[in-house]
Amino acid sequence: MVNYKDLGLVNTREMFAKAINGGYAIPAFNFNNMEQLQAIVKAAAETKSPVILQVSSGARKYANQTLLRYMAEGAVQYAKELGWENPQIVLHLDHGNSFELCKSCVDFGFSSVMIDGSALPYEENIALTKQVVEYAHQFDVTVEAELGVLAGVEDEVSAEESHYTKPEEVIDFSTRTGCDSLAISIGTSHGAYKFKPEQCTKDPVTGRLVPPPLAFDVLDAIMEKLPGFPIVLHGSSSVPQEYVDIINAHGGNLPNAVGIPEEQLRKAAKSAVCKINIDSDSRLAMTAAIRLTFDEHPEYFDPRKYLGPARDEMEKLYKHKIVEVLGSDNKA
Ligand code: G3H
Ligand code: 13P
Ligand code: ZN
Repeated sequence: MVNYKDLGLVNTREMFAKAINGGYAIPAFNFNNMEQLQAIVKAAAETKSPVILQVSSGARKYANQTLLRYMAEGAVQYAKELGWENPQIVLHLDHGNSFELCKSCVDFGFSSVMIDGSALPYEENIALTKQVVEYAHQFDVTVEAELGVLAGVEDEVSAEESHYTKPEEVIDFSTRTGCDSLAISIGTSHGAYKFKPEQCTKDPVTGRLVPPPLAFDVLDAIMEKLPGFPIVLHGSSSVPQEYVDIINAHGGNLPNAVGIPEEQLRKAAKSAVCKINIDSDSRLAMTAAIRLTFDEHPEYFDPRKYLGPARDEMEKLYKHKIVEVLGSDNKA
């Protein structure tokens, strides 16, 4: 058993309260490898932004959970080395699907866990979330829960269609579970194909797909029921078309990839939405940089020569999200 405080990590409680009062959101970036982690930490340290490092079940399988935890511990030291005296870094389990998984992360030094019971019947979601909260709170680990179902398919996280969160359930759910934050469904979804072309309109000038707007009326109704309660948005990549174009022009094939426009995320960040999850955009940045490098330099075979530019591109993306979209710079 190791407590996250001994690793220099922090939980989300104070971070979220400050973000809500300050009208900004904390970035929650997934990581699966060293280059992503380096880019996240460098971007956060150089912009002095609090940051949430997220580990999914897929990441645990891909990179080994022990290694990922030690990498997060290393991230705190790396941040200090970069001149960030008091790093505000959270290590968070993304989409935990069982009590046992959440417990093992709490015991292993995570400072925050998500229990995603959103696919379960309402009462079962409450019972499971409550069980995780009761365990995690003994160690001052914060718990994110989810109510409502996101559409989209993202490896292990999938749901055929979206069901918006019902505002009339949120008071009962948060009171009975004791969760610290609530992930809601208002039209975001996981992955690089967030909307089908038939759900979108077409920009007459660029010919690009324009997605339908998020359901801000549902968000408003939730905030009215739970004033000041931390709200989380999953599936918030904006799928930058520059990256999609580079990928498609250099041997890739991502037709009709579309995400959430950044203006809508900016608007959400100013509200009680205090955590915004971004994973796919980092994947796109990495893939675009690697495809471009391979095309321009077919002679390269040292991975540092293509993973280096990929890491630089991800750092640029993370800084952009922090400074231009979420507004979390200089808040840590
Ligand atoms: O919510 C899903 C995240 O993007 C994690 O994706 O399960 O492929 O690691 P993953
Ligand atoms: P994206 O696929 O939009 O990046 O969402 C990531 C996410 O919600 C991780 O939990
Ligand atoms: Zn998610």
